Amino acid sequence: MHTSRHVFVHLIRSVALLAILCATAVQAAEKRDLIIDTDPGADDVVALLLALASPEELNVMAITTVAGNVRIDKTSRNARLAREWAGREEVPVYAGAGRPLVRTPIYAENIHGKEGLPGVEVHEPKKGLAEGNAVQYLVETLRNAAPHSITIAMLGPQTNLALALVQAPEITQGIKEVVVMGGAHFNGGNITPVAEFNLYADPDAAKVVLASGVKLTYVPLDVTHKILTSDQRLKQIEALNNQAGKRVGSILNEYVKADMVHYGLPGGPVHDASVIAWLLKPELFSGRQVNLVIDSREGPGFGQTVADWYDTLGQNKNVFWVENGDAQGFFDLLTQRLGRLK
Ligand code: RIB
Ligand code: CA
Repeated sequence: MHTSRHVFVHLIRSVALLAILCATAVQAAEKRDLIIDTDPGADDVVALLLALASPEELNVMAITTVAGNVRIDKTSRNARLAREWAGREEVPVYAGAGRPLVRTPIYAENIHGKEGLPGVEVHEPKKGLAEGNAVQYLVETLRNAAPHSITIAMLGPQTNLALALVQAPEITQGIKEVVVMGGAHFNGGNITPVAEFNLYADPDAAKVVLASGVKLTYVPLDVTHKILTSDQRLKQIEALNNQAGKRVGSILNEYVKADMVHYGLPGGPVHDASVIAWLLKPELFSGRQVNLVIDSREGPGFGQTVADWYDTLGQNKNVFWVENGDAQGFFDLLTQRLGRLK
């Protein structure tokens, strides 16, 4: 009797251990290979710090920069700064397109400041750019990647990926999915009454990416304007009492002022970091598969994204449109990850 009970207890213990090992293996298996394409930019820098502070979930293979908020030399310098501040100088930064595919370039220095990074002192980072252009890096990396293995987070105008897709359409084989900060539907735009900045800055590029058929998720103003800073949320970040908390607190405090005045809100959005939070904790967000159309015609609708949320036209649902998010959950995640940095 005693022997069989002993065997039974041992069996239960072994099964429990096996279950834990499997769960851990699944957890580890979920680590994503990620390329971040970005135009830093205040909220881009917060997104980069969040991603680089999350190595268990995100293998940031490279950062590729594009002109957008400010010119390419400054977006590339700011990407290298974020990398230095995160202590992740092994991650290569490739500079990419200095202008949109077709339209005349626009910038957002009125929001992000002349240096593209408000609220903090900038300097020339120690480590330089990687050899080669971001578009070539995307072509070679995605062309040779394991099938559908690499996620691309697009935090600025989509020029680099569009150029890579035009040059080598076959690179879609290496793409797992593309997650875009961009677009606006329910509550209008930020750069025009209907258009969001990243789409307005290069709608032709966004159309190339949309037409490529890659798995596409949009994190638009519809959700980023629901995830707003507040005095308490900035205080919880600054209470980390480390360099990262101080920097992000100062950056956001400065960055959100324009939006708070423009929209008459008690806080401002951290657009790009919402993309990284989606990758880290998708359960914080909700949305639905919709048909998305992008308007690149000259006129009042230039850069507009039309998301058919109620499936009125019954067209192909080509994009997952994120429409809601847990604001406090986002700031708790951001605070916890920034707490890992110096
Ligand atoms: O409209 C907000 C977006 O445009 C963000 O990505 C911001 O960094 C700017 O690029
Ligand atoms: Ca951006």
